[in-house]
Amino acid sequence: MNTSSLALLGGQPVIPGRDRQFSWPPITADTASAVAAQLARSVSIYDRSGVVEDLEDSLCSYHGSAHSVLTSSGTAALHSMYAACDLGPGDEVIVPAYTFFATVTPLLHLGATPVLADCDETGSLDPMDASRRITSRTKAIVVTHMWGLPADMTRLADLADRHGLMLLEDASHAHGAAINGRKVGTFGRAAAFSMNGPKPLSAGEGGFVLTDDDETYYRVLLHGQYNKRCRNEIPTTHPLYPFAVTGMGLKLRIHPLAAAIALDQLARLDTYLDARTTMAEVMCQELGKLPGIVAPTLAQGVRASWYGLPLIYQSEELDGLPVQRLHEAILAEGCHEADRPGSTCPLNLLPLFQNPQPLLPAFSGGLSYEPGDFPVAEALWRNTIKLPVWHREEDRALIDQYIDAIGKVIANYRDLLG
Ligand SMILES: Cc1ncc(COP(=O)(O)O)c(C=O)c1O
Repeated sequence: MNTSSLALLGGQPVIPGRDRQFSWPPITADTASAVAAQLARSVSIYDRSGVVEDLEDSLCSYHGSAHSVLTSSGTAALHSMYAACDLGPGDEVIVPAYTFFATVTPLLHLGATPVLADCDETGSLDPMDASRRITSRTKAIVVTHMWGLPADMTRLADLADRHGLMLLEDASHAHGAAINGRKVGTFGRAAAFSMNGPKPLSAGEGGFVLTDDDETYYRVLLHGQYNKRCRNEIPTTHPLYPFAVTGMGLKLRIHPLAAAIALDQLARLDTYLDARTTMAEVMCQELGKLPGIVAPTLAQGVRASWYGLPLIYQSEELDGLPVQRLHEAILAEGCHEADRPGSTCPLNLLPLFQNPQPLLPAFSGGLSYEPGDFPVAEALWRNTIKLPVWHREEDRALIDQYIDAIGKVIANYRDLLG
């Protein structure tokens, strides 16, 4: 007879029921009235006016940046940023092996060659591994701040400076994250952000590029914001002004209703992040005590956005219990939000990076990555169990239940062996 208390083996779950346990973004009455007001005002904006101007101005002042350009998605923001930085055939761009694939896929469409580099134990780009991959054709280094934990920007900026390379950020997980007060997204030539659904700053769907560089700004406009914006904002004396009507022919504008959602959210972003910081401290402290679990630690002066809280599992501390079994047991205790990252994975595991030819015949960069190429990223990804970080006071009890549930599984891990 089975006597285990674990829910996976027939015991009572710590958290009963199937209720949704996390939802984002927080939609308030203010959000609804902002969207309704925008609906009455305008649902299509061709220039930098109205809610587009208001949100771009707010993003600039929030980050202390000279320019921001809103886009239809984070993928579009990345595409515009790379095109604006003139990355194309013959250029190598060092990118994280461990990231969401859209950090890299726009480079394939521009014909630039992504050179994948491994991550360090935090999950973000390892400056040492990046440095080993620099060649005479390298033009830029791209960093993703994984799960909202800022990457090692001091070392990466130093590396880029020493080699005369552009430093670019994919800050899609990390709105409002900062290092010694300097916001993520302001460390390099430009940064791209997603504002898709669960992102710390959400528009539902949308994105933006940040830059202090006028030339990059004009080219971002030319890439995906043709005609009016280019005619109004690029100086008539600029050599590319004659292209203002068509730009590069792509239309990547944000929807005004999405911009209204993001503008409403931005006003509360810091409050949300401060509350997440408090909750994450408790979660990391309690979960980090458990054998087999490593919780993130932040260096002094670092603020995370806590897009996710990645717990790294060390199976050797639990007699080799497979991560999948541990995860199943945690889910069975009612922690429905405990997630093993799927499509955000080492890119060498994806067919597009092993052989892009069948889908992208025009890409001649010759990628042929294989499983096993990025051992640190692959081990980290395989052993990650990611939790959301709540921000509401009323979710404290749920956080305690998650801590109890994970603690219970680990205390009884022997029941899961064999
Ligand atoms: C790191 C990262 N980059 C880029 C993107 C793409 O953003 P979007 O979905 O808004 O196109 C995502 C989205 O999940 C992401 O996580």
